[in-house]
Amino acid sequence: MPTFKLDDREIPFEPGDTIIQAAHRAGIDIPHYCWHPGLSVAANCRMCLVEIGPPPGRPAMMLDILKQDPKTGEYIPAKKPKLQPACQQRVAEGMEVKSESSEHVSEARGAVQELLLLNHPVDCPICDQAGECRLQDYWLQHQGKGKRMHDEPVHKPKAQVFGPTIVYDGERCIVCTRCVRFCEEVAKDPVLDVRERGNLNEIVVSPGRQLDHGYTLMTEYVCPVGALTATDFRFKARVWFLRSARSVCQGCATGCNAFLDYDPRNETVYRHRPRENLKVNKYWMCDEGMLDYARAHEDRFINAYVGEDEVSLEAGVKAAAKALKGVDPERVAIVLSAQHSSEDNFALLTLARDFLGSGNLFISGNAEGEGDGVLKHADKNPNTKGVEQLCSTTPPASMSELLEAVAAGKITHAVALGSAAPIDVEGLSSLKKLVLVSPFDGALAGYADVLLPAATWAESTGTFVNFAGLAQESERAVRPEQDARPAWKLIAAVGRELGYAMDWQRLSDVRLAMAPDAGAAVAGSAAAEVSAPTGAAE
Ligand code: SF4
Ligand code: SF4
Ligand code: FES
Repeated sequence: MPTFKLDDREIPFEPGDTIIQAAHRAGIDIPHYCWHPGLSVAANCRMCLVEIGPPPGRPAMMLDILKQDPKTGEYIPAKKPKLQPACQQRVAEGMEVKSESSEHVSEARGAVQELLLLNHPVDCPICDQAGECRLQDYWLQHQGKGKRMHDEPVHKPKAQVFGPTIVYDGERCIVCTRCVRFCEEVAKDPVLDVRERGNLNEIVVSPGRQLDHGYTLMTEYVCPVGALTATDFRFKARVWFLRSARSVCQGCATGCNAFLDYDPRNETVYRHRPRENLKVNKYWMCDEGMLDYARAHEDRFINAYVGEDEVSLEAGVKAAAKALKGVDPERVAIVLSAQHSSEDNFALLTLARDFLGSGNLFISGNAEGEGDGVLKHADKNPNTKGVEQLCSTTPPASMSELLEAVAAGKITHAVALGSAAPIDVEGLSSLKKLVLVSPFDGALAGYADVLLPAATWAESTGTFVNFAGLAQESERAVRPEQDARPAWKLIAAVGRELGYAMDWQRLSDVRLAMAPDAGAAVAGSAAAEVSAPTGAAE
């Protein structure tokens, strides 16, 4: 691999790399605002300026400047190297680049910071970007001085509603055009543009339009300062109180990698953010996925029920075992869920195959929707592939086939995971018993005789296999609410109550049991390719 020198460190690069790309891959941060690894290069913020040594035998490109003599206060002619934007300049073999080690670069970065802050309101204490604002961070690193300009700053629109999800503050905007480029290049809807020039410029929405495509929250997320804020998150939480779990979006079969941000003090989930994975979602998520975090606390079951009565978890497990005890296995349906992790499904499959002796497998989940050719997949379930892999020898039948079997009297009992169903399941009312293990209320819940409260994806770690067959681990964020427990634990408890040896105590026990025949369906197995971020988060 060819190399170049950055601050005297040998850095490998790939042909075509810009300096910032090669540095980024080597884990070195060159300060930047307008550059984003997933967007085209604009090179307009000038924060990434570096000093590049001349090619061998050639003179350095120097600029004539005036410098103030600190002793006399007089301006005297001087020279300094012409700096280049690292985001635009391609690397060449043997190139020598100075970033941190150049006093000219430090001076330029300070000057860029000062320029950007001339008209910027210093409303950091009330700005929702505080704690993750590049202006704050870089001001501390590269300038750290107060304002020298005493004139009235330029005033621009504040709290301007760009659309149903996003608010714009023109005074905080540094016109890096990341949002403009994102709309055009990723969301494929060029609804934003820049108006005016110089310090009067601002971002505007196309006349007669709103910022309302399917990736508006990503448009906000690429803004490096507090100019774009999301109505959903504005004033809800301070980021320094939040912790992040490495989660997988549950919205569709794409399986976008996400951070699930939560406050450990009140065990509340506040937002979804994209987690870089170049194989799956690159740097992005769709609006539906980014808003899906709210399901962690909505329509929850946090107690066990027998009929209409709320009961203890122990009584619920006993009632579930009683409902299944002694029933002809030919009459019992096992409803796996494309909404649940492979571990949860494996637990139910084990109860069915190894202990109850039932091979009547069905699969439930959300109905198919629409894909968009960007990220969104038509399958609105995170683990259809995982269930298919687990049932590779006996593919599960559909929910309509279950209803037919129930109507024909062939199935009289059912154990189901998850409440989502792609069709109207009224026919389930003729079941004698339905045992449901589910975190959420939904179509199947209305017919449950015994309900056990499962933990949500936010409350438990599990494996989800995306449409392309990539097994990814979604990590627990918050603790399960009240009596909710991971579904595999509840299913094992029912099995034990029935007298079966389902003695798994930890997730690793389930994964160990899965490994021999589950193949790629478990993130902990050697066969699985577990997704991981491929570089520094943007
Ligand atoms: S709104 Fe944000 S992303 Fe858009 S140009 Fe302004 S600072 Fe950049
Ligand atoms: S594309 Fe699918 S997995 Fe990705 S964020 Fe959207 S809903 Fe979630
Ligand atoms: S990052 Fe903005 S000019 Fe290079």
